[in-house]
Amino acid sequence: MRVTKSMAKKRVAILISGRGSNMTALIEAARSPDYPAEIVLVVSNRPDAAGLASAARAGIATVVIDHRPFGEDREAFERALDDVLRGHRIELVCLAGFMRLLTAWFVARWSGRLINIHPALLPDFKGLHTHSRALAAGVKAHGATVHFVAAEMDSGPIIAQESVSVLDDDTEESLAARVLAVEHRLYPRALRMVAEGGSTATAVPETDFSARGK
Ligand code: GRF
Repeated sequence: MRVTKSMAKKRVAILISGRGSNMTALIEAARSPDYPAEIVLVVSNRPDAAGLASAARAGIATVVIDHRPFGEDREAFERALDDVLRGHRIELVCLAGFMRLLTAWFVARWSGRLINIHPALLPDFKGLHTHSRALAAGVKAHGATVHFVAAEMDSGPIIAQESVSVLDDDTEESLAARVLAVEHRLYPRALRMVAEGGSTATAVPETDFSARGK
């Protein structure tokens, strides 16, 4: 069955904790008039995240929700985050170097509308230090993955992946740089797929993850 695609651009928030180069790649891509999503908000859990200044320079609203006053209460931090996202009528959330583990509560609340980029070919090399671990394992192919977020870290349905060859003389730095260049084109492509997948409530094609859990 054909579904009617909404012409309205999806309202997207990007969550960061640091440099924000993937955030910038998404902001740049979304400048294109035919891009199906608009970046309306950047949220950082760290007041000193370099990406905040880049977002502000690009004219995007920024909010800092410092996680530290919430202590161990992850859900209280996430309720504050959820309030901000809802206040900005956010439809899709992109994690881009956001260094907080999310609780099952938040993940369920944003199920099918929460995506992440991971610098490895999932399901290989979940977690941190993916490039040095890939080199140590001697893999010939490495890369990046964009996926929907599930409660378990670095898991959830894969939206897009792109690989790079691992070269004999690669260092952690050279491999990281090549993967990062891949990330910067992969994330905008994956967000486009998710945003275009948004459909009216009448039918859900099998490839349309974006309507899950709504
Ligand atoms: C990227 O490698 C991303 O895949 C990982 O954290 C890094 C963030 O880099 N989750 P940046 O802040 O987007 O520059």
